[in-house]
Amino acid sequence: MDARPRILTGDRPTGKLHLGHYVGSLANRVKLQDQYECFFIIADLHTLTTRPEKEAIATITDNAREMVLDYLASGIDPEKSTVYLQSAVPEIYELNLFFEMLVTVPRLQRLPSLKDMARSANLGEMPFGLLGYPILQSGDILMPRANLVPVGKDNEAHVELTREIARRFNYLYGEVFPVPEALVGDVPTLVGTDGKAKMSKSLNNTIYLSDDRKTVERKVRGMYTDPNRVRADIPGTVEGNPVFIYHQVFNPRKEEVQQLSERYRAGTVGDVEVKERLAQALNEFLDPIRERREVFAREKGLVDRIIFEGTMRVREEARETLGAVRKAMGLSGIWNSIRRKAEKTAPAGSSGATGAAGSA
Ligand code: TRP
Repeated sequence: MDARPRILTGDRPTGKLHLGHYVGSLANRVKLQDQYECFFIIADLHTLTTRPEKEAIATITDNAREMVLDYLASGIDPEKSTVYLQSAVPEIYELNLFFEMLVTVPRLQRLPSLKDMARSANLGEMPFGLLGYPILQSGDILMPRANLVPVGKDNEAHVELTREIARRFNYLYGEVFPVPEALVGDVPTLVGTDGKAKMSKSLNNTIYLSDDRKTVERKVRGMYTDPNRVRADIPGTVEGNPVFIYHQVFNPRKEEVQQLSERYRAGTVGDVEVKERLAQALNEFLDPIRERREVFAREKGLVDRIIFEGTMRVREEARETLGAVRKAMGLSGIWNSIRRKAEKTAPAGSSGATGAAGSA
């Protein structure tokens, strides 16, 4: 038995992971791998909440492989952590149904995250399943009875809802679940290269962990910066400037960042130089990640074996949790009672509880 507390977190397999994922949650996962027993879910069912079409589903397999490669490249060690596929663990959606009874519709309607998702997916009205997105997420979190959930800022409210569900379940049926805590990364929300909103695939303002050096240079050159600064000798604004935000997060040479900031404010450095140094810092940060990614990608079937084995391991866990849940709720008692009585009263000589019906 592993006595360590547990982490659960995960991502929707919509494509490759970017710098926002890294600072929001991946870095914490890697850091806490030894202290916690870790579960990382590939939340493919969650993608159905906005994209239920068959063509969208057909992209999941490869997206999941790319995403797990990004996990490995970032330092997640499959020997230590369990990576698994949500849709292959039906107990999660069974939990989802039980939890749906413990949450009100207005509670869900107040979550800004769901409205944002509906809007960016161009859904006019809220699908029932999208409204239930955070309940399914609670199923993900509580299935392995996790204690800690490393997430980006945008998911904090979903962990709060999970805490309410855990408390409500325990109150109604007895102590089954821990009340998990969210752990938000050092940079709770990383702004995109456009400077407008958080880094997000759907907004086309990302730098991917797997982008090559040239792509990083090109994206940094095109980054939004202080728009009032039409010439290098005009004093610029550092605060809220995405180029400097990235410098602060990813450039380990603190004095360089300090000096660039001062020169920028004084109007004695051009945007070109500031961006060149940023691209340099980002590439140094990404180099080891890209190298590891390549090594793992060369090993045929590795990612599939990791997901397969993780899922098989988690299925055991899911059976145990759902056993405890059904018992606590009194649901297993219904079936057991029916089955026992059916067996006890079956006519003598019949092969099963249903008597002659089975022997025809
Ligand atoms: N909602 C997360 C996202 O924004 C993905 C996710 C699904 C998740 N299930 C989870 C995160 C459980 C943490 C815990 O992509």
